[in-house]
Amino acid sequence: MSGKSPKDKTTADTLSDLNIYDPNFSINPFSTYEELHLNNPIIYLNNSDSWLVTSADLITEICSQPHLFSNDISVLLAGLHSEKPKVRKILEQGLPQVPVLLMSDPPDHSRFRRLVGMAFSGPRINIIESEIRKISSNLLDNLKANKSWDFISEYAIPMPVNVIGGQLGLSQNDIKKIRPWSDAFTDRLSGMIDEEREEACAHAVVDFQKTMEHQITLRRNYKYNDLLGDLVSASSDGDKPLSNAEIVSVIQQIMVAGNETSTSAMAEGIKLLIENPTQMKLLRQDTSLLKNTVEEILRLASPVAGSWRIATRNITILGKNIKKGDKVMLRFAAGSRDSEMFNQPNKMDITRQNSKTHYAFGRGIHTCVGNMLARREISICLEHMINKFETIELADYDKAHAYNPNVMLRGLKVLNIETKVKN
Ligand code: HEM
Repeated sequence: MSGKSPKDKTTADTLSDLNIYDPNFSINPFSTYEELHLNNPIIYLNNSDSWLVTSADLITEICSQPHLFSNDISVLLAGLHSEKPKVRKILEQGLPQVPVLLMSDPPDHSRFRRLVGMAFSGPRINIIESEIRKISSNLLDNLKANKSWDFISEYAIPMPVNVIGGQLGLSQNDIKKIRPWSDAFTDRLSGMIDEEREEACAHAVVDFQKTMEHQITLRRNYKYNDLLGDLVSASSDGDKPLSNAEIVSVIQQIMVAGNETSTSAMAEGIKLLIENPTQMKLLRQDTSLLKNTVEEILRLASPVAGSWRIATRNITILGKNIKKGDKVMLRFAAGSRDSEMFNQPNKMDITRQNSKTHYAFGRGIHTCVGNMLARREISICLEHMINKFETIELADYDKAHAYNPNVMLRGLKVLNIETKVKN
């Protein structure tokens, strides 16, 4: 007990009281990140019983030591959803959920990464590019000209969902379920749902697993030229091929990690370009800036705002004593705006030389396996939007500030825009 009155509170005390689970924190966390960089790049948060790491250097250091900071966060997740008997019973009807990739440590992680990495190779992404272009064009062509519309529900959600759905061999009917399935997975991670929603989420997880198991069986019997086919046939010397339960768990992660994140990056990107008209103009004048614009958007948006690690032993960092078993939240969104690394970090500058060194895809062995696919999707989105529309404006400013409540993912709920088609 410190025995201080509220009046005596220091900056460090106030920052320790920060509640990263507060949905309002997502609206504009950036001045807080700045304060944390300057005063407490690693700080214990009383409300979430965890350490918060905000400096780029520390995030890199921690990500490079998976033996000290584990990704086996099953214990933490078990705490988030209560695993009530009713929920467990529903989940028992499906496949066991295997801790793959993001939930695993070496040496298991190394095997998953080698095998899954094959499905996300450059040649596969090049094949997928023509599909992304088709899906993006269709979505924009289906819009009524010169109207006000929600960029998120009409484009940024269906675009990546259809890309992934196509690569997993899903029918249009099942593709419609991808978003509800993904919502069920992320809701289970959010730590912010009631019992009724927990049960609905468990039903959705089982439905998803059964659908995917059927698609996997098809690919075990016939050759399919898609990402799921690559996952089923992935092999490397000395590695046991992926089992059905492992592939289903990988796909579950791909859906969580690869849909909402891409949706949020595209939406935040369009919003940033609207709010920074000189940058929008620059991009329209010189489309060779497209690649770097994608990186600057990823830097500023960092849709995976943060991710968890668990300390595997007692360790001291910058004089702070982290105990074995402590939860550590790596705030990638803060690393992407660290002023030690990025000049005027909160400013959008599509000509910035080092935009690409952002933390949006993390660091170390867990660096986003889908980063090439995500970059291609965002790039095609921007290219198609500026080619099709002469003007893009915000239509409803208030709603543009509403973010989904999620401690790990930062993404807009709605982005109403007004567009004028080019003649
Ligand atoms: C803008 C979009 C995306 C962002 C910002 C993003 C961000 C991230 C981040 C920060 C991590 C590392 C998390 C950690 O270290 O704890 C990660 C890992 C991962 N991402 Fe992405 N991601 C995006 C798109 C995608 C896509 C399109 C896919 C697949 C279709 C994907 C699949 C994965 C997987 C499977 C992992 C786990 C990798 C591992 O543990 O080895 N992501 N992503």
